[in-house]
Amino acid sequence: MGVITHTIPPMEQHRARRLQLAEELGDAIAVIPAAVESPRNDDVDHEFRQDSDFYFLTGFDEPDAVALIDPAGPDPFVLFVRPRNRDEEIWTGHRAGIEGAREQYGADAAFPIADLGGELRRRFEAKPAIHYRIGGRLDDEVLGAMKAVQRVATRFGVGAPQSIVDPSPSLARLRQRKSAPELELLDRAAVISVDGHRAAMEATRPGVFEYQVQAAMEARFRESGSPRNGYPSIVASGPNACILHYVTNDRRMEDGDLLLIDAAAEYGYFSADITRTFPVNGRFSPAQRAVYEVVLAAEREGIAAARVGGSLKEVTDAAVAVIAAGLVDLGLVPGTADDVREMHLYREFFMHGVSHWLGMDVHDAGPYRQDRKPVPLEPGMAFTVEPGLYFEPNRDEVEFVLHSYDLDEWAERRARLGVEAAKAAEADETQDAARTTHPIPAEFRGIGVRIEDDVVIDPQGPRNLTGALPTAPDEVEAVVQG
Ligand code: GLY
Ligand code: MN
Ligand code: MN
Repeated sequence: MGVITHTIPPMEQHRARRLQLAEELGDAIAVIPAAVESPRNDDVDHEFRQDSDFYFLTGFDEPDAVALIDPAGPDPFVLFVRPRNRDEEIWTGHRAGIEGAREQYGADAAFPIADLGGELRRRFEAKPAIHYRIGGRLDDEVLGAMKAVQRVATRFGVGAPQSIVDPSPSLARLRQRKSAPELELLDRAAVISVDGHRAAMEATRPGVFEYQVQAAMEARFRESGSPRNGYPSIVASGPNACILHYVTNDRRMEDGDLLLIDAAAEYGYFSADITRTFPVNGRFSPAQRAVYEVVLAAEREGIAAARVGGSLKEVTDAAVAVIAAGLVDLGLVPGTADDVREMHLYREFFMHGVSHWLGMDVHDAGPYRQDRKPVPLEPGMAFTVEPGLYFEPNRDEVEFVLHSYDLDEWAERRARLGVEAAKAAEADETQDAARTTHPIPAEFRGIGVRIEDDVVIDPQGPRNLTGALPTAPDEVEAVVQG
């Protein structure tokens, strides 16, 4: 695979993002902490991965750092970092240090992280507001500095910050529409992930352990230049496919199992998100194929419904309509397809969402509703389409609650009353509804199927970044057999 050549140098991209945030800050100052190392045991840490907001704004990938974005101040971009230290660097690797923070990362001023408290007090003076996400690791420093400045302000009659504003919604909106260089990174993550999934399909056969397939796939991710996964790989065979976030990956696969793999590589701090489900022995059983075809048709309809000016709700509705009709055809639900949609009976077998934003984080930042309406799809937005159907191994009948409701109305009520009060109202409404039980034939029990691709909205329409990985059942069988 070729090397990506950026049209905009990375340092400039981070600067451009800081300028975008600066527009929202006005005279205020933002405090953005880096991720911290998390100890695993003794002097061994868990794998470090920089916080996405911090990386988005700085490109700096060391722990123990803090960024200040201070558009109206003398230094619009300040970095606090670990200073160079030969003894420490022998153990844990190179540090950019104070000089590197300025020269390589474009900081207008840089300080050792130990200077943070004093500098915050100095730089908070006369600011109208502090943009900082409460509940983070700097609560004591930020609140302490704010209080100190307020005390001095009272005495000398100067201005002091009176409010703390969460910068996350502003950053989420900035991250929601990807630039061309960002889409190149996401696309590369997708290409690498597709390749890894192929390696997984080729490594699968009865008798092999899930973790061995995982190793073959992740080896391909690494060989292709991905430093880490976007999230822990789900390699779920047989009944494990019905556990949505199964990551144990230690079962020996058997003839007749399906294998559901939900895994993807990260590249340049962007993550893909792919799921494929395929027969371990290379041949779907009739029941497996029947379920698979419903999920596949739902996925295709979902992708086809994505359009500029549309919404993830439209994508969801399109996929759900297919799932509902498919469940009726399979005889797995009572009533008509309309009943199944209106009473949301499909949720007994399809209990997660169809789509989520995708980007630096697999469940990426970005609002789903704004002004009480679904956020309209715009060029540069990226998301998954991932319907699924899951039939638990020992569930031979299902009790359905026969109560129609509109998810939009529920969302509206949650916005109006607050989530807790609205949930109580939802429970009240469903409590007295009629119920009916319906059998699940044995051949369906233990089947779990999800199919997930990554879609970007281009000006001319949706583009499937991961469509090169087969989904048609015959093609999938051929790759596994191949
Ligand atoms: N891999 C997590 C998800 O599909 O949402
Ligand atoms: Mn997903
Ligand atoms: Mn996934």
